[in-house]
Amino acid sequence: MLQKWRRKRTHFPLLSLFSVLFSLFVIGVTILYNQRSIRQILEDREQQQLSITQTSLLSSDPSKASGVNNQNQALVASLDRFTKCASTRRYSGKKTVRIDRMMETDRRRGIPERCDLFSGKWVFDNTSYPLYNESHCPYMSDELACQKYGRTDLRYQNWRWQPHNCNLKRWNATEMWEKLRGKRLMFVGDSLNRGQWTSMVCLLQSAIPADKRSMSPVAPLTIFRAEEYNASVEFYWAPLLVDSNSDDPVNHRLKDRIIRPDSVLKHASQWENADILVFNTYLWWRHGPIKLLWSSEENGVCEELDGLRAMELAMEAWAEWVASNVNTLIKRVFFVTMSPTHLWSREWKPGSEGNCYEENTPIDVEGYWGSGSDLPTMRMVENVLGKLRSKVSVVNITQLSEYRKDGHPSIYRKFWQTLSPQQLSNRTSYSDCIHWCLPGVHDVWNELLFNLL
Ligand SMILES: *[C@@H]1O[C@H](CO)[C@@H](O)[C@H](O)[C@H]1NC(C)=O
Ligand SMILES: *[C@@H]1O[C@H](CO)[C@@H](O)[C@H](O)[C@H]1NC(C)=O
Ligand SMILES: *[C@@H]1O[C@H](CO)[C@@H](O)[C@H](O)[C@H]1NC(C)=O
Ligand SMILES: *[C@@H]1O[C@H](CO)[C@@H](O)[C@H](O)[C@H]1NC(C)=O
Ligand SMILES: *[C@@H]1O[C@H](CO)[C@@H](O)[C@H](O)[C@H]1NC(C)=O
Ligand SMILES: *[C@@H]1O[C@H](CO)[C@@H](O)[C@H](O)[C@H]1NC(C)=O
Repeated sequence: MLQKWRRKRTHFPLLSLFSVLFSLFVIGVTILYNQRSIRQILEDREQQQLSITQTSLLSSDPSKASGVNNQNQALVASLDRFTKCASTRRYSGKKTVRIDRMMETDRRRGIPERCDLFSGKWVFDNTSYPLYNESHCPYMSDELACQKYGRTDLRYQNWRWQPHNCNLKRWNATEMWEKLRGKRLMFVGDSLNRGQWTSMVCLLQSAIPADKRSMSPVAPLTIFRAEEYNASVEFYWAPLLVDSNSDDPVNHRLKDRIIRPDSVLKHASQWENADILVFNTYLWWRHGPIKLLWSSEENGVCEELDGLRAMELAMEAWAEWVASNVNTLIKRVFFVTMSPTHLWSREWKPGSEGNCYEENTPIDVEGYWGSGSDLPTMRMVENVLGKLRSKVSVVNITQLSEYRKDGHPSIYRKFWQTLSPQQLSNRTSYSDCIHWCLPGVHDVWNELLFNLL
């Protein structure tokens, strides 16, 4: 008996080493798998954009279709989806941006103490919410129209954000249009920011008679106009903020991400005349290493850097543009923080193996934080935005959206790729736990924006 036990014991370290290695392998594979599916979900716009672009090319003047791009052609050769690295080496440590120096002359303005709008809780409120009806918004996106795609539990539409120490001013479309009169409001970023733009358009459109509004869906710049206010609400596709090989809103399913870490020129020419700018960037940096192609590099040699530090370089290049181009008397700039994902239900329900699929209530643990919101990224963003001081206002949606595991489309959206029988047999496997159903979480981000304007 004893001997048997001893023998077992001597095997134990080996066995446990093996099982540790095996678990690491499984974790690794699962992470890779999930990164792949995040990537797929983020990229799967491709086909729809194609059809939008094709429709608009067919139905409108083709010269208009490309017209928006022609002013101010990039001064540095810009990247496109055909850009290749001649070779790749490790990051040299190069930095070109000196925000600290640029902001030295900016007098620190006292920012009045205000209630923290981002600290609070979700309150079920089916008398005031939703703020609009999904089927009544003609600009709704099929990726976010969860009710149309079969979601029957609709409570995700009924939550109001209640800050702890004050009340949000209630959404009022007319008042928002008054704030926008004669102005261009432009959202710049990735598909999460596009969701917020769609929400804003849906929140605003019903206040305008149908013949006094228009939508020109010509990617990468999509423009919603309201004649009587001489105002527009626009979305510009720039998922990495700096110039990159992924800036084509149709074709961006690429093996490598290549960016110009020191240039936002191509994009800035599109956004520089907007009066109110709402930026975001985050998830596109989370799929592994990024290739850097500096403007001064003539031989096509790239450097390779992890997503977080590459994002920092991009944020700094963007911040430099803000620091030197934004006059806060005539322009407002907002930055929307990380949009959380809910890919692992074990994080809020230990022992479970799902994701956001079939979740239908918010998390009610105050301060809950999941692995979809990367803390080092949060600190880096805070640091970069801090240097810009009053030039940029933060729309800090991360914590409040963390609670909303119930707010994602999961399987209730249009998927542009055909799902395999294998995927269809396991609904968790193709659930979208990244984007947000409308009406829903995005509307609250916009109410916050409305309160900050
Ligand atoms: C609102 O929710 C309550 C409680 O769930 C329910 O009794 C009531 O019928 C709902 N009202 C509407 C208008 O959906
Ligand atoms: C939304 O519109 C649909 C179809 O017109 C209607 O059945 C439903 O009652 C509406 N819901 C709300 C909350 O207005
Ligand atoms: C919305 O705002 C407009 C313009 O400021 C105001 O006239 C109207 O009374 C407001 N509506 C509500 C319901 O508060
Ligand atoms: C409309 O707004 C634009 C700025 O977005 C401005 O340049 C133009 O003068 C405005 N037109 C009128 C008629 O107010
Ligand atoms: C956003 O809020 C979180 C707390 O929820 C905080 O840790 C973070 O620093 C804030 N981010 C920015 C950019 O201010
Ligand atoms: C379904 O897919 C999820 C996520 O890909 C996976 O974790 C799970 O093991 C799968 N379930 C079954 C029964 O295959």
